[in-house]
Amino acid sequence: MHLKSNIVLLPGDGIGPEVVVEGRRVLEMVGSKFGHTLTFSEHLIGGCSIDAHGTALTEETIAACKSADAVLLGAVGGPKWDDPAASVRPEQGLLGLRKSLGLFANLRPAKTHPSLVHTSPLKPERLAGVDVLVVRELTGGLYFGQPRLREKVNGHIRAVDTLEYHDYEIRRVVELAFRLALGRRQKVTSVDKANILETSRLWRQTATAIGAEHENVVLDHMLVDTASMRLVTHPASFDVLVTENMFGDILTDEASVLVGSMGMLPSASLGESGPGMYEPVHGSAPDIAGKGIANPLGTILSCALLLRYSLRLETEAAALETAVDRVLTEGCRTADIAAGDDPRLTTRQMADEIMARL
Ligand code: IPM
Ligand code: MG
Repeated sequence: MHLKSNIVLLPGDGIGPEVVVEGRRVLEMVGSKFGHTLTFSEHLIGGCSIDAHGTALTEETIAACKSADAVLLGAVGGPKWDDPAASVRPEQGLLGLRKSLGLFANLRPAKTHPSLVHTSPLKPERLAGVDVLVVRELTGGLYFGQPRLREKVNGHIRAVDTLEYHDYEIRRVVELAFRLALGRRQKVTSVDKANILETSRLWRQTATAIGAEHENVVLDHMLVDTASMRLVTHPASFDVLVTENMFGDILTDEASVLVGSMGMLPSASLGESGPGMYEPVHGSAPDIAGKGIANPLGTILSCALLLRYSLRLETEAAALETAVDRVLTEGCRTADIAAGDDPRLTTRQMADEIMARL
C-alpha cells in the first residue's frame, strides 16, 4: 500500500534540531524504500518561537500540527529562557500543544538492550529482561488543574496548584493501557497514591472497573512510592505501567536509568483521533548543543512509534527498530552510551549506521 503523509517537524531548541534532522532523513529513507510519499514542514516551538514571536506556541504552529498526520518534536528550553519569573516559558509550548491536540496518553517504552547493560548504574542481573511500557496521563492532573495561583495571606506568600481528575480522563488512558497490554505480556500495573489522595482513589476505582472488563489481562495496583522503589529493585517485573501525569513524569525519568541513557528513550503522545506527537524523552541538553554529538536514537525510535501508531505502518516501524537493535549489537556508540575506548560516533554518523541497515 502506497501512503501519502504529511509530517510536521518541530525541532525546537538545543539539540532538538540536531536530532530531528536525523529523524527526518531516516523517515525519508523508510518512505523511499517502502514506496510512501512523506512530506515535511517545519515550524517553531519553545524558546526559538519566543525569540521570533514572543510566545512559545503560535496559532500557526497549532494549525499546522492539527492538519498533519503526525508531529515529530525535538526538545524545548534552555538557559536563555530559564528565568523562573518570566511570564513566557518554552515549556508552555509543549504543554499547550499536548492540550490543543488532545494528547491524553504518553507512551514511554523502556527496554534494556543487552549490549548496553553496563551503561546503567544498576546491577546487570537486575536489568535482564527489562521491557516496561509506561503510559502516562498527559492532559490532566497537577499540570493543568485550576485554580493555580500565588497570593499574599497574612504577610505570607501562599501558592496553590490543583490536582484534579474526572472519571472519563482516567478511563480513556487506562483503557488504552489495557489494549496495549494485550499485545504484550498482558499485565497492567496501575500506580497511584490511593492511601492519601482522593483523585487516586477515583483512579484506583476506575482502573478496577476496567480491569473487570478484561479477564485476559492481570491488573495490580501499586502505590507510587513502592513503584518507584520496585522500578529499580525489580524492573523486569513490570509490563505496562499506567499512571497520572505527575507520577508518570517522575517515574519515566527513573525508568530511563534502566536503559542506560536518556538519549535512548522514545515517546508517543496520542489522543482519541487526530495526529500523534512523537518526541525523544530527553531535553534540549544545552551543554552539548551545537556539537553534533547528541544521541539520535531516542528520536529515531520515536520515528518508529510514529510509523506504527500514526501511519499504521507496522512493518516499517519494526524494520526501523530492528536496524536500531543491530547498530547497538554491532557496537555503534554515541558518547552517552560509549565505554572505555569505544569510538564515539557523531549524531550524523549514528543515523548513517541505522540507514545503512534499513
Ligand atoms: C517531560 C518533561 C516535560 C513535562 C516538561 C519539559 C514540561 O519533563 O516531557 O517529561 O514535565 O512533562
Ligand atoms: Mg519529564
